Amino acid sequence: MTMGWHMMLQFTPALVGCYIWDGNHSFEMIRRSKECVINVPTTDLTEEVVRIGNSSGAEIDKFKTFGLTAVRARRVRAPLIKECYANFECRLADERLILKYGLFIWKVVKAHVATSPKYPETLHYRGEGVFMISGRSLNLRKQFKPGNL
Ligand SMILES: Cc1cc2nc3c(=O)[nH]c(=O)nc-3n(C[C@H](O)[C@H](O)[C@H](O)COP(=O)(O)O)c2cc1C
Repeated sequence: MTMGWHMMLQFTPALVGCYIWDGNHSFEMIRRSKECVINVPTTDLTEEVVRIGNSSGAEIDKFKTFGLTAVRARRVRAPLIKECYANFECRLADERLILKYGLFIWKVVKAHVATSPKYPETLHYRGEGVFMISGRSLNLRKQFKPGNL
């Protein structure tokens, strides 16, 4: 499924929070298996991102329909999407907010990240069918306290 509502929660170990609506086919699969892979697409997959978020895995095989390649993960049973820039294998770290808020708290147990380009062109969902595309980078590293890097 396509997911726009997510956030980092902790750095070490890496925790990520994701909102998953209980009407999605993915919801029960993920809740029961307590595992998932978060795949990060780039703009060459924009069409697929939209179509995957507008169809259900209960009705179609999305890997087949959208021409994506499933690759075996190292630490979880869910597959990675080969065409994505980064893939984060996750195990459920906290299930207490799932039934109340649909909020899954994940621990990243294995990360796969392409080495180039350094700053990929990623998509960020603004809502209402509108996306923002990552753009210019501003390196202000020298102004940072080391502890904040
Ligand atoms: C751009 C975009 C962002 C989305 N973000 C979320 C999200 O953060 N959480 C969520 O539960 N559904 C989100 N959706 C909706 C699901 O992707 C959609 O309901 C999908 O059909 C679920 O697939 P499934 O039934 O195979 O699980 C989003 C859809 C789009 C197109």
